[in-house]
Amino acid sequence: MADLTAMTAAIDRYLATAGRGVLLPLLHALQEEFGHVDPAAVPLIAEALNLSRAEVHGVISFYHDFRSTPPARHIVKYCRAEACQARRGEPIEAALNARLGAAMAGGQVAIEPVYCLGLCAIGPNALVDGRPVARIDAAAIERIAAQVTA
Ligand code: FES
Repeated sequence: MADLTAMTAAIDRYLATAGRGVLLPLLHALQEEFGHVDPAAVPLIAEALNLSRAEVHGVISFYHDFRSTPPARHIVKYCRAEACQARRGEPIEAALNARLGAAMAGGQVAIEPVYCLGLCAIGPNALVDGRPVARIDAAAIERIAAQVTA
């Protein structure tokens, strides 16, 4: 005779583990399909994976790459780590923010911080729609602006 109590406990343990194991891939899939993880999806995810809403929300809010609102059309990820900061990163970032301010207000562009892109020797750096831009200066800012406001 099977031990139903033990089997139920084993199934629960498995589902709990699988639920945590599939949460990140599921969140990535939703963001890939919809551009963000809508807060309305949190209870649906929680129920599907047998997790609490707080657990799901906690994972979404912990990882900065997950968005809860639709993204801007263009994303500029600007490096704020030490090596880029030491290469005039802060005033260059201010100039970039000023140049793209109108486009950011219109939701066309968003500037997001990143902390090292692995290009430390040629900073300050950014990723513009996923493509690296190094040695950012005034001319590079104009090229970036032309690209993301076209
Ligand atoms: S510190 Fe900016 S790329 Fe490494």
